[in-house]
Amino acid sequence: MRLLVTGGAGFIGANFVHATVRERPEVRVTVLDSLTYAGSRESLTPVEDDVRLVQADITDTDVVDALVSEADAVVHFAAETHVDNALADPEPFVRSNVLGTFTVLEAVRRNGIRLHHVSTDEVYGDLALDDPSRFTEATPYNPSSPYSSTKAAADMLVRAWVRSYRVAATISNCSNNYGPYQHVEKFIPRQITNVLTGRRPKLYGAGANVRDWIHVDDHNRAVWRILLDGQAGRTYLIGADGERDNLSVLRSILRLMGRSPDDFDHVIDRAGHDLRYAIDSSLLREELGWRPEHTDFEAGLRDTIDWYRDNESWWRPLKDAVEARYAERER
Ligand code: NAD
Ligand code: TYD
Repeated sequence: MRLLVTGGAGFIGANFVHATVRERPEVRVTVLDSLTYAGSRESLTPVEDDVRLVQADITDTDVVDALVSEADAVVHFAAETHVDNALADPEPFVRSNVLGTFTVLEAVRRNGIRLHHVSTDEVYGDLALDDPSRFTEATPYNPSSPYSSTKAAADMLVRAWVRSYRVAATISNCSNNYGPYQHVEKFIPRQITNVLTGRRPKLYGAGANVRDWIHVDDHNRAVWRILLDGQAGRTYLIGADGERDNLSVLRSILRLMGRSPDDFDHVIDRAGHDLRYAIDSSLLREELGWRPEHTDFEAGLRDTIDWYRDNESWWRPLKDAVEARYAERER
C-alpha cells in the first residue's frame, strides 16, 4: 500500500508514521507537510530512511494532486491545531483547515482515492461539568472556537463530498491526545517543560475544565482500524474514557516530577473556554473491535515526562518563543 500522510511531521502524524513504519513494513509512506512552526523534520528523524517527506502546502493544488495520484490512500492530519493561536489569529486556520481540506478532497475525488480525515471532538462544542452525557456520532455540531469551527467546516466538506461525489472517505473525531513529540504550546508538554526549565506551570482559570485524554498510539491504532475496515461515509468517535479536570492533570505532573501540589500559577482564563469534552466510542469498539491499550493515564504521563526529559534537544529550541508569546497573553 502507498500511503500519503498529510501533516505527518506534526505530533499525531509523526507518531502515526513511526507506528506505521514499525508495524506495517508493507506500507510505503509519503509525508506531505509544509513544516509550519508546529511541524518538524526532526520528528521524522527516526524513520528518515523509510519515509519520503515532501515539504509543501496542502492548499497547493498541483502538488497535492500529483502526490494523491501516486497513492492508494490518504490520511489527512494536516491542520492548524492550537485554540489559543486561533483566538489570536484565525486566518491560517481558515486557510489550512478549510481550504486545505477542500484541496485534498478535490484531489481524492479526481483520482478516486480512499481518504481518512482526522478531526476533533471539539466540533461538538462543550458539555456542562455536571452533565452525565457524552458526545456520540449523533451529537449536533456546535463548535465554539475559531479552531473547532474550521475543523467542523472541514468535516462538513468531507460529508458533502461523500454524498455528492461518492468520495470514499471516513472521518474520525478524537479527544485530547498526549504522548511524545507534542508541541510545547499544548497543555501537558507546556507544564512538563515549564518544570524542566525552572518555570512555574500555568493553569487557566480554576482548572475545572475537563478533557478526555487518550494516548496518541491508541488514537493512531484506531485510525488504522478505520482506514482498513471503516465504512465509507461514516464518522467514528475515538476516546479512551480518560476524563480528567485540568487541575488534577497538573497535580499528577507535579507529583510525578517531585514538586509540591501548589507549585503553579493560576493565569487568566481562555476566552470562550470549553468546559468539558467526553467521548462515547461504542461504535468504534463494537463495529471495529478497537480497544485502548494505554488505560493507565498516570503510567502514560510518566512515560511522556521521561520522553521530554530525554529529548530536550527536540523541544528546547521552541520553548522560549512559546513562553514569550504566552507571557503577552497572560500579562
Ligand atoms: P500539530 O499542530 O502537532 O501538527 C500539524 C501538522 O500539520 C504540522 O506538522 C504542520 O506543519 C502541518 N500543517 C499545518 N498546516 C499545513 C498546511 N497548510 N500544509 C501542510 N502542512 C500543514 O497537530 P496534531 O496535534 O498532530 O493534530 C493532527 C490532526 O489531529 C489535526 O487535524 C487535529 O485537528 C487533529 N486532532 C488533534 C488532537 C490533539 O489532541 N492534538 C485531538 C483530536 C484531533
Ligand atoms: P490544550 O492542550 O490547548 O487543548 P484543547 O484546548 O484543544 O483541549 O489545552 C487543554 C486544556 O488545558 C484546556 O482546558 C486549556 C488548558 N490549559 C491550561 O490550563 N494551561 C495552559 O498553559 C494551556 C496551554 C492549556
